[in-house]
Amino acid sequence: MEAKEVEDTKSNFRWCWFWLVSVIAILVIVAGVLAILEDLKDSKKDSASHHPGPIVKKYADALEIALQFFDVQKSGKLVNNRIVWRGDSGLLDGIEMNLDLSKGMYDAGDLMKFGFPMAFTATMLSWAILEYGENMKTVKQLGHARDSLKWITDFLINAHPSENVLYIQVGDPELDHQCWERPETIRGIRPLTQVNTSFPGTEVAAETAAAMASASLVFKKIDSSYSNLLLEHAQQLFSFADAYRGSYSVSIPQVQNYYNSTGYEDELLWAAAWLYHASKDLSYLKYVTELNGQQFANWGNPTWFSWDDKHAGTHVLLSRLNIFGAKGMSSEENLDLQMYRKTSDAIMCELLPDSPTATSSRTKGGLIWVSQWNCLQHAMASAFLAVLFSDYMVTTQISTLYCHGKSYSPADLRDFSISQADYILGNNPMKMSYLVGYGSNYPQKVHHRGASIPVDANTTCKDGFTWLDSINPNPNVAVGAVVGGPFLNETYIDSRNNWMQAEPTTYNSALVASLLSSLVRSSSVVDSFT
Ligand SMILES: *[C@@H]1O[C@H](CO)[C@@H](O)[C@H](O)[C@H]1NC(C)=O
Ligand SMILES: *[C@@H]1O[C@H](CO)[C@@H](O)[C@H](O)[C@H]1NC(C)=O
Ligand SMILES: *[C@@H]1O[C@H](CO)[C@@H](O)[C@H](O)[C@H]1NC(C)=O
Ligand SMILES: *[C@@H]1O[C@H](CO)[C@@H](O)[C@H](O)[C@H]1NC(C)=O
Repeated sequence: MEAKEVEDTKSNFRWCWFWLVSVIAILVIVAGVLAILEDLKDSKKDSASHHPGPIVKKYADALEIALQFFDVQKSGKLVNNRIVWRGDSGLLDGIEMNLDLSKGMYDAGDLMKFGFPMAFTATMLSWAILEYGENMKTVKQLGHARDSLKWITDFLINAHPSENVLYIQVGDPELDHQCWERPETIRGIRPLTQVNTSFPGTEVAAETAAAMASASLVFKKIDSSYSNLLLEHAQQLFSFADAYRGSYSVSIPQVQNYYNSTGYEDELLWAAAWLYHASKDLSYLKYVTELNGQQFANWGNPTWFSWDDKHAGTHVLLSRLNIFGAKGMSSEENLDLQMYRKTSDAIMCELLPDSPTATSSRTKGGLIWVSQWNCLQHAMASAFLAVLFSDYMVTTQISTLYCHGKSYSPADLRDFSISQADYILGNNPMKMSYLVGYGSNYPQKVHHRGASIPVDANTTCKDGFTWLDSINPNPNVAVGAVVGGPFLNETYIDSRNNWMQAEPTTYNSALVASLLSSLVRSSSVVDSFT
C-alpha cells in the first residue's frame, strides 16, 4: 500500500514533469516556427530591397564581350588598350580650331565621329551604369563601362568650347566614304562641323546635355570636380538648345543623309529630365511638366525608342519619378508625371507579346522588328525599357500592370526582355549570334574597316577597297559589335558589302550593354540615384 502510494506519487510527479516539459517543448517549437516564418517574411522583404537573384552566366559573358566594342571604336591616344589590332588614331582631330577632339568614338564601320549618336551612346551608358552599376560591378565590368563613358564625355567637353558653340562632327562623310582604310592610317586634317546661334542644332545640343547630365551623376561620388564640370556644360548646352531652337537637319542639311533628326522636342524633354535628376533644380521638373509636357511629350502615344526618338526613354525615366516620388513637387506636376507613367504603361502593353495592344512589329520568332536598317536597335532599346520598368515595379512592390483589362506581372516584362536578348545571342532560326564574338556562330564579314584590314596591310584610302571586296572572313574580330540584324523573314546575309544588315554601330553596343547589364542577375532591384 505504502509502496503503491509512493509509486503513485512518483508516477503523478513524473506525469507532471512530462506535461510541463511537453508544454515547454511545444511552446519552444511554436516560438521557433513563428520566428522562422517571421524570418521568411523578412527575407522576402529583403530580397525585394537588397538581394537580387543569382548571376546568369550567359548574360555576364555576353556583357563582357559587348563592352569591348567601345575599345574597338576608340579614337585618340589609347590607354590600356585591350584590342590587339587597334592603335592610336585621330590624333590631329580638332587641331585647326585649336581643340583636342582626338578622343570620342568612331560611329560604325566607318571613321566618322558623329556627335548626335555618340552623345546618345553616352547617355545610354550612363543610364545603364546608374540603374545596373551594381550588376556590372559584380561581374567586374563597371570599370570598363565607366572608362568607355569617360572616353566620350572627355570628347564632348572639348567639343563645347564656348557657351553657344558645339562641334557635332569630325570628318566629312562624303570624303570618308570614298576611302576604305584603318583609322590608324588616316592622313591629314579632318574637317569639323559646328552648331551655333546662327545655325542651331537643338536636338544634338540637348542630347549632348543629356549625356553630360547623366554622366555627371555617374561620376558624382568618384570624381566630384569632373562631375561638376559635366553638369556645368550640360546646363549651358541645354540653355543653348532651348534658346536657339532649330533642328540641325535644317541648319546643316548635309547631315540628313546620315543621322537625320525628325524633331527636337523629345531631346529637350529628355535633357531636362536628366538635368533634373543631376541637379535637383526644380525648374527642370517644371520644364518637363507644366511648361512643355502637354506640348512636347506626345502623351498616350507610344513610339520606338532610338537615337532619333527619345520619347519612350523620357516616359520611362519620368515614370521613375512618379513611382519613386520626388521632393518638392506640386500636385500639378505630379499629375503630369502620371501622364508619363500612363504612357509608359501603354508602351509596356505594346511590347508584351500577348497583350490586347501588342504591337505587330515582330518577326515570327518574336523579335521586335521595325525597320530594315539596323533592326536590332529597336529590339534592344525596347527590351531595356521593359526590364527597367519591371524592376521599378518590383522595387516599389507594384505587382500588376493592366493592359485593357488583362493583368501582367513584372516577371512578364522581364520574360519579354529575356526573349529579345536570347534571340540576339543565338536563339533564332539562323542559330546566329548577332553579338560578334559571342557563341560559336556569329557574323564573320562584319562591315567594319578596321576589322576587315590586316594590321600589316600596306593599303590606305583607295587601294583599301580590296579588303571590302574580299570574300574572306575579317582578319580581326570586331568583338562586341552588334550588327544591324536579320530581315523580317529572319534570314541574314553575312556579306561585308551588305551594310544594311552587317554594319555595327557604337550606339548598338550601348543598347546591348544596357540590356545585358539588367539581365546579369535573374532578378534585379534598381539602384536608387534620386
Ligand atoms: C556656324 O555654324 C555654321 C554651320 O556649321 C558654319 O557654317 C558657320 O561658319 C558657323 N559660324 C561661325 C561664326 O563660326
Ligand atoms: C529628314 O527628316 C525630315 C523630318 O522628318 C524629313 O522631312 C526629311 O525628308 C528627311 N530627310 C531625308 C534625307 O530623309
Ligand atoms: C606590307 O609590306 C611589307 C614590306 O614590303 C611586307 O613584308 C608585308 O607582307 C606587306 N603586308 C601585306 C599584308 O601584304
Ligand atoms: C527574306 O527577305 C529578304 C528581304 O526582303 C529577301 O531578299 C530574301 O529573299 C528573303 N529570303 C527568303 C528565304 O525568303
